[in-house]
Amino acid sequence: MSTISPSLMESVSHENRKFAPPAVFSSAARVNGMEAYRALYERSIADPEAFWAEAASELHWFQPWECVLDSSEAPFFKWFRGSRTNLSYNCLDRHIEEGRGDKVAIHWEGEPGDTLDLSYSDLHREVCRCANVLKKLGVKKGDRIAIYLPMIPELAISVLACARIGAVHSVIFAGFSADSIRDRVLDSEARMVITGDGGYRRGKMLELKKIVDEGVASCDCISDVLVVRRGESHPVDCPMQEGRDHWYHELIGQVDDICPAEEMDAEDLLFLLYTSGTTGKPKGIMHTTAGYQVFSYLTSKYVFDLQPDDVYWCTADVGWITGHTYIVYGILQNGVTQVMYEGAPNHPDEGRFWDIIEKHKVTIFYTAPTAIRAFMKWGDQWVEKHDLSTLRLLGTVGEPINPEAWMWYHKKIGSEKCPIVDTWWQTETGGHMLTPMPGATPTKPGCATLPFFGIEPVILTEEGDEVDAGILAIKKPWPGMLRGIYGDPQRFKDTYWCKWGGKYYFPGDGARRDEDGYIWILGRVDDVVNVSGHRIGTAELESVFVEHKDVAESAVIGIPHEIKGQGLVAFVTVIDGCAQDEHLRKELVAMIDKGIGKFARPERIVFSSDLPKTRSGKIMRRLLRDIAEGRELGNTTTLADPSVVEHLQSQFQDET
Ligand code: PRX
Repeated sequence: MSTISPSLMESVSHENRKFAPPAVFSSAARVNGMEAYRALYERSIADPEAFWAEAASELHWFQPWECVLDSSEAPFFKWFRGSRTNLSYNCLDRHIEEGRGDKVAIHWEGEPGDTLDLSYSDLHREVCRCANVLKKLGVKKGDRIAIYLPMIPELAISVLACARIGAVHSVIFAGFSADSIRDRVLDSEARMVITGDGGYRRGKMLELKKIVDEGVASCDCISDVLVVRRGESHPVDCPMQEGRDHWYHELIGQVDDICPAEEMDAEDLLFLLYTSGTTGKPKGIMHTTAGYQVFSYLTSKYVFDLQPDDVYWCTADVGWITGHTYIVYGILQNGVTQVMYEGAPNHPDEGRFWDIIEKHKVTIFYTAPTAIRAFMKWGDQWVEKHDLSTLRLLGTVGEPINPEAWMWYHKKIGSEKCPIVDTWWQTETGGHMLTPMPGATPTKPGCATLPFFGIEPVILTEEGDEVDAGILAIKKPWPGMLRGIYGDPQRFKDTYWCKWGGKYYFPGDGARRDEDGYIWILGRVDDVVNVSGHRIGTAELESVFVEHKDVAESAVIGIPHEIKGQGLVAFVTVIDGCAQDEHLRKELVAMIDKGIGKFARPERIVFSSDLPKTRSGKIMRRLLRDIAEGRELGNTTTLADPSVVEHLQSQFQDET
């Protein structure tokens, strides 16, 4: 276990600016002041079952619940036991029944500039047709379906189509490599992949189907590959395998527009989403139906203060949890209009996002700190060319935001009139856990502030004593929490519940509580690194490196990076007598591209003759971080051979 990031601690420890929500915002907000926030929060903690039941009653249920929270098999908590519902019904049918069918659900924009507007009725029709295609291909309730698509409407459509018929989707971010697809498909025993011939990124067409073909070549569980044609105007070479591969646009024309939503049990599996942990193997995080439904709905409603005429835009990809909850399920359940964009923020130029905001009159904008730092670097001129006056609320997600980036966002994008919600949460939590309430909470640059309703955070020592700076823990179960790790219940218990004897959920982050009771997130305390908001386990890279025949051992660490938040540095020990040269470096980078994806490339690969280890053989990553960040070395007395670090330190400096 590593210690809290000293650089992050340093950057926020002197921050004491405070910004009250603008009065005009508060006066019309759902939670209009701290008194209202506290009253609701206290109710949610004093009687969580009543609180969550009231939230759930705003949604549609085929059958109501017998019990809101069943803790009898903790930590396998069950929410809304006995109920029957359907997420796709709550995202679509409910709005049509309540007269919102003609409202735009999605203003979609492709990177080359092609557009499509889908009303809630249009989306309902497309989801029904996609669901009927899945059924026609033999998909049944409970089957796992892998989805590897670019940010095109069919991504949201196929996710909702799975939910409609009770198939379990496992979306794989379209930046992952063929090997990553293979691992996820095999672990979930998926029977189908939905993909596209390609997708646009910075003016280029990524040939997705070819990556899928390579990924599933050895996966006997796959019986069908459904292929969306994205390259209609720029045909892509897309060989189709007879009997296995099907064109989406051909099948969609052969099915009915109506597909009734399956009545799902509260704890039926809704989706799997693989995420990185501290081992070399990603975990299939399990989210089930009813609890996730209510949590995604309520967090969206309050944290984004959603109002009927809002135009919301989240720039995340549906391949990550942010897109699952705050593009698809949470937002659509609230019946608002949103923007969905396929491509890069700097194509055709660095003003693309601001152009989209101006064009669609976006009112709520939710993005990642890494994107904000890139905008800052590109310069204010790109922002100044555009009218962003429709914006009323800003949000950030995925990694700690440095106060400088927060201030730039506040001034340049929000014109000092938009509250910023810095939302801390995880794939595992399903939705927001710590966040300001935009009409209530005075914000501080870089701080996720206070808990959402029903969430009880505490900061603990390793031994479980409450402290002001230490390890973040969550006291009570909440409806959006993960229900397990697919196929590995023991790993679920060990990873999240064992640290303090089953009393608390352990998220893996460090935190500090300030004099106002606000919580500052200080980064991960385990070997997970957050590169541009993408969560990467250092052990995953290490296991890729050691597959190279010349590599004996490796240790990967995260270091601060100006734009990406964190970057990766790999220390690689080569087998005696093998060359340590540029050629080997290139081969190692190519192995990361193939084994994980280009987004996991290290900033730097350092060849080292040995690694600092304790006498019991454990690599001391803390010392590697000290070396990489040019800090004075911490305690080295437990090292088996202290000369290793001295040598590495001078070598690192020489290479810089
Ligand atoms: O370290 C925290 C960081 O991202 C981790 C979760 O990553 P992932 O499951 O990929 O989900 C990202 C989107 C929710 C957390 O353990 N993190 C997320 N949001 C914040 C954050 N760190 C600081 N501030 C945040 N707002």
